[in-house]
Amino acid sequence: MRILVADTFPEDSLTELSELGHECHYRPELDSEQLREALLGTEILVVRSTPVTSAALESADALRMVIRAGSGTNTIDRATASGIGVHVCNVPGRNAVAVAELTFGLLLALDRGIPDGVADLRAGRWNKQHYSHARGIYGRRVGVFGLGRIGLRFAERAVAFGTHVHAVENPERDPRTKDRATELGIEFVADPHELARTCDVLSLHLPLTDTTRHIVDRELLAQARPGTILLNTSRSELIDENALIEAMDTKGVRAGIDVFSEEPESGRGTIESRLAAHPNVYGTHHIGASTEQAQRAVSDEVVRMVESFDAGTVLHCV
Ligand code: MLT
Repeated sequence: MRILVADTFPEDSLTELSELGHECHYRPELDSEQLREALLGTEILVVRSTPVTSAALESADALRMVIRAGSGTNTIDRATASGIGVHVCNVPGRNAVAVAELTFGLLLALDRGIPDGVADLRAGRWNKQHYSHARGIYGRRVGVFGLGRIGLRFAERAVAFGTHVHAVENPERDPRTKDRATELGIEFVADPHELARTCDVLSLHLPLTDTTRHIVDRELLAQARPGTILLNTSRSELIDENALIEAMDTKGVRAGIDVFSEEPESGRGTIESRLAAHPNVYGTHHIGASTEQAQRAVSDEVVRMVESFDAGTVLHCV
């Protein structure tokens, strides 16, 4: 089969794909426009950040499967894919620990002002007083939106730090998650607004759907406590960014954000984002999944998915 890998991918996984007997093309530099042409003759497309638009899908002449080397598939036009019989698959869970680790890193950074402290020291400024007012993490109430693979990993870390974790009840939660949540002493609430009202930290671990879009909106933020820390390493569209900026300006909400609505699609370029530039935000470059361990685990799974597809089984179809 002709496989197009249109995003960064470990070299040995590319070798493994070729050793399975496939014609493997590695084109990490492509943007969504260039993808259209490169897709000709391609049967399997592997992508990470590059959007797969309806135009690209419609002009593909041999495509059978798109694999998103991550968990979210919101960058792929799934309706068009399904209309033309192309499977859309993801790689669930393999990067969950990495995303949870970054989320926790953002929390610690916000509590202690670490990035600003580093910047001060680099500029030769010693300012102990300024950095002596952290509230600490122990004993605080943490509200987790979404207790899937990533949310649960984040919750485990939060519990290990001595916080009280609360989460929104999800009736479709799988029983294993429920058992682990019970072991961890996580308390469930029915309404996201209750998390906003009662928690010091709110962390988003939800897929982007019509129901979750702008789950953090003006109304929810109006309930949030002054000084709330909001963490988003999921998808930018979960937050109404204008409402968040207002809440940061008026009630001292602070945010650790890994995902922005203006992210350049090829993974590099410039960004003009009021949110990223706001002094109450510590932002990162959509790098939640970007550890060597996570990318290794994801690419191993992609190779297994290709092997299995070749043998007639589609894994992780969304
Ligand atoms: C995901 O959906 O798992 C992440 O967006 C993956 C990534 O950044 O590659």
